[in-house]
Amino acid sequence: MTTNNEVEKAETDRIYIFDTTLRDGEQAPGATMTLEEKLQIAEMLDDMGVDIIEAGFPIASNGDFEAVSEIAKRSKNSVIAGLARAISGDIERAGEAVRHAKRGRIHTFVSTSPIHLAHQMNKTQEEVLEIVTATVSQARNLIDDVEWSAMDATRTPIDFLARCTEAAIKAGATTINIPDTVGFATPQDHFQLFHDLIHMVADSDKVIFSAHTHNDLGMAVANSLAAVRAGARQVECTINGLGERAGNAALEELVMAIRTRSDALPYHTGIETTHLTRASKIVSSAVNFPVQYNKAIVGKNAFAHESGIHQDGMLKNAETYEIMTPESVGLKATSLVMGKHSGRHAFKEKLRAFGYELGDNQFQEAFVRFKNLADRKKNVYDDDIIALVDDEIGSAGDRIKLLELEVVSKTGGEHRCFIKLDVDGEEVSLIEDGAGSVDAIFKAIKSAVGASPRLVLYGVDAVTGGTDAQANAHVRLEMNDRIVSGRATEPDTLVATARAFLSAYNRLLVDRGASAQGALEQQEKQTDT
Ligand code: KIV
Ligand code: ZN
Repeated sequence: MTTNNEVEKAETDRIYIFDTTLRDGEQAPGATMTLEEKLQIAEMLDDMGVDIIEAGFPIASNGDFEAVSEIAKRSKNSVIAGLARAISGDIERAGEAVRHAKRGRIHTFVSTSPIHLAHQMNKTQEEVLEIVTATVSQARNLIDDVEWSAMDATRTPIDFLARCTEAAIKAGATTINIPDTVGFATPQDHFQLFHDLIHMVADSDKVIFSAHTHNDLGMAVANSLAAVRAGARQVECTINGLGERAGNAALEELVMAIRTRSDALPYHTGIETTHLTRASKIVSSAVNFPVQYNKAIVGKNAFAHESGIHQDGMLKNAETYEIMTPESVGLKATSLVMGKHSGRHAFKEKLRAFGYELGDNQFQEAFVRFKNLADRKKNVYDDDIIALVDDEIGSAGDRIKLLELEVVSKTGGEHRCFIKLDVDGEEVSLIEDGAGSVDAIFKAIKSAVGASPRLVLYGVDAVTGGTDAQANAHVRLEMNDRIVSGRATEPDTLVATARAFLSAYNRLLVDRGASAQGALEQQEKQTDT
C-alpha cells in the first residue's frame, strides 16, 4: 500500500526529461536533419515519455519554424519548446511556432558571464537585468510556460546569476535553466552552484531548476546528476549525447543511471527505457553519426562480454557482470529473419514489428532491395533489415542517384572509377583515376556533379558479422561553411562508399528542413547576387 507521504515524495523526486536533440543536437557540425527526420524523432521522443521536446530554434530559418510548428501540432503528451534569443522578434516567432501544441513553451536565453557581456554582447550587468525582465515578460504574455536560461552560467559570478534568476522569476519564468555552456564545470562545482543558487534566490520554490550540461571534459552526465542532487528537477539532454563540440549530456545515460542506481540516486523519470536502443539508432541514422562501439547504454559493445572469465560468469548468472539487462534498454538478440523465399507479407510484418510504416512506393523499393540482398547474402538478420530500411528512408527524394559503378584497382598501379549518375533526371557518366579506389570514386562524383566539397571524414563498418556482411559507409563533407554527413548501406563496400558520398552531397543541396527545390532556388539566388 502506498501512503500519501510516499506519493508526495515520489512527485518531488520526479526528474523532468527535456530533450534537445532537435535543437542543441542539430547544432553539431554535420547533424542537419530534414523535416521528415525531425518529425520521426519527435514522435519517437513523445512515445518514449520525454517530458519536454525542444523542437528547434524557430527564428533560425523557415525550415526550423516549419519543423517546430508541425511537431507542436502533432505532439501528444510532451511539452513542445521553441528556443528564442533575448530579442523580441525571436520570442514572437517561437510563440507563434509552439502556439498549436497541446502544451507549448518558449525558451529564451541571454548570456550572463563577464566574458560574454564584454566580448559578445557589449552590455553592462544592469542592461542585462533589464533585458531579462523585458524578454521574460514578453514571453509570459504569449504563453504560460516560459523557460529562462542564463547562457554561460557556470562562468558567471553567483551574486549576479542570482539577481538575474530573481528577475526572471519575478517576470514570470516557470523554469530556470543554468547551462554549463562551455562544459567547464565539475560535479562538485555544479552541486555547489545549484545548491547555493536555490538557497539564495527568493521564490526559488515557485519554479523548476534545470541543468543543461555540455561534455567538453566528459562530465556532462555527472554534472547533471550533481545538479539533481542539489535540487534541480529538469535535465536537458540529447539522444546519443549529440550536440555542439563534444555534445550534451546523453539522455540514455542519465535515465539509466537514475534507474539502475536508485540507491544512490533516489529519483525517477517518466521514460520508457525499452525505447532507448531504437531511439539511438533512429538519431544515429538521421544525422549519419555512428555511435561509438563502447558508448554506455547504446554502444554495440555495451552488453557484449568478450573475456573468458566474464563469459563464464554470465553463463552461471547474468548478474555477475551485468548491472542492467539488455532487455531493459530494448536490446533484443539479433535474430535470423528471412531468406530469399520470404514474401511481401512477412516483410511488411517484420517492418511493423520494428516500428516502420512505409508508404506503398517506399515499401516496394525496400522489398526489392531486401530480395536482392537475400539473393546475395545467406543469412539476413534484423540489423540488415533495419540498415536497409533506414538507408531507403534516408535516400528518399535524393536528386542525385547512383546508376552504375565500376572500379578497377591494381596493386602498385592504376585505380580507376567509371560512374554513371542520375542528376536531376539526366544521365551523367565519367571516368576518373585516383590515388586509390576511394579517391577515384570521390573524384568521379565531384566531376560529374560539378562541385568540390571537402571530405572531412570517411569510415566504413560492417552491419553484422561475416565476410558477406553489408558495409555501412559514412562521410562528412564541407562546402561554403556548411558541414553535412551522409551514410549508405550496401553489400559492396565501394558501392556503399559512392552512395554515402552522394547522400552527403544531396544534403548539401537541401536547406535545413526545406524542400530540395526551395533550397536549390535559394542557392541559385545567392550565387546570382
Ligand atoms: O549551452 C547553452 O547555453 C545553450 C542555451 C541556448 C540553453 O544551449
Ligand atoms: Zn547547449
